[in-house]
Amino acid sequence: MRSLFDLNGDGALSASAAWLVVNGFLDSPKFNDLYELLLTAAARRGMELHLVRTTDIPYNREQLATICPERAIFWDKDVLLARMLESVGVCLFNSASAIELCDNKALTALALDAAGVPTPRTVASPLAFAAPDEARLGFASQAATQLGYPLVVKEVHGSFGQQVTLVQDEGQLLDVVARLGNARFIMQELIAESAGTDVRVAVVDGAVVGAMRRFNEHGDFRSNITAGGQACPVEPTPDEAACALRACAALGLSFGGVDILPSARGPLVCEVNSNPHFHSMLDACGVNMADSIVGLVGTDRA
Ligand SMILES: Nc1ncnc2c1ncn2[C@@H]1O[C@H](COP(=O)(O)OP(=O)(O)O)[C@@H](O)[C@H]1O
Ligand SMILES: [Mg+2]
Repeated sequence: MRSLFDLNGDGALSASAAWLVVNGFLDSPKFNDLYELLLTAAARRGMELHLVRTTDIPYNREQLATICPERAIFWDKDVLLARMLESVGVCLFNSASAIELCDNKALTALALDAAGVPTPRTVASPLAFAAPDEARLGFASQAATQLGYPLVVKEVHGSFGQQVTLVQDEGQLLDVVARLGNARFIMQELIAESAGTDVRVAVVDGAVVGAMRRFNEHGDFRSNITAGGQACPVEPTPDEAACALRACAALGLSFGGVDILPSARGPLVCEVNSNPHFHSMLDACGVNMADSIVGLVGTDRA
């Protein structure tokens, strides 16, 4: 991978160079391919973009201030580092606050609901320390009576459908909640008419740049590609496009991937990704989100 930046050496950056901040502990093709797409898009545009791993950055404001760039694409969920960078004046795409809201499904649901963006009915779990199982289970079965079965339980932090579980009855709910321990979660009504399918809408700078319908043909209610889903290009309906744009605006995202569940009562926002894995959209639709993201970061709005 190109352009690793030696912060301790004399690999000085020009003031106009931007950083692509990525998590230093994630080193798999799935992530590296995305970084490569962003770096290549920047090179095509003649923009100097340096890949910087979080493990190479001093988590210290004073030191950070001496090396930081004007702008950075922040491709991680390390909100602490994002806040540190913002505090020394770095303009982040996405902002620390947008990343924080998206990384926590309970905060996302709250922000969307408060902004009047339609979502599935959602109940969040209270903060639990070393609570006995009965206390957490009591809360969950009470919430289930409001939502009805089947319902969906999601850890507040999670990706690729891996922390999302369909629950058919109280027995299953209690098993799932017991397994979660003290981890915070949300419970959501199942949107039965779109089980196994959704519309992923890519948004950059207040505009829809691409959309794909994802569908799972293996009987799984999750349409994530990682969970066995497939994707095909789709033209989002005006309501779906408006819903995705309103969601990004409500969360303060410069760019994002919005999962929309078509339903009998119109499109509902399932969740929003501040660091969308846009490789599948490139494969399915030929839309390279990296170009529009880099275009946005390279645009001078001063
Ligand atoms: N309330 C729901 N009703 C129907 N399907 C859902 C619901 N919530 C999630 N799904 C399905 O599960 C997938 C993963 O859920 P999501 O909330 O997007 O979590 P992740 O962050 O892991 O992608 C969605 O893309 C959708 O296909
Ligand atoms: Mg999702």
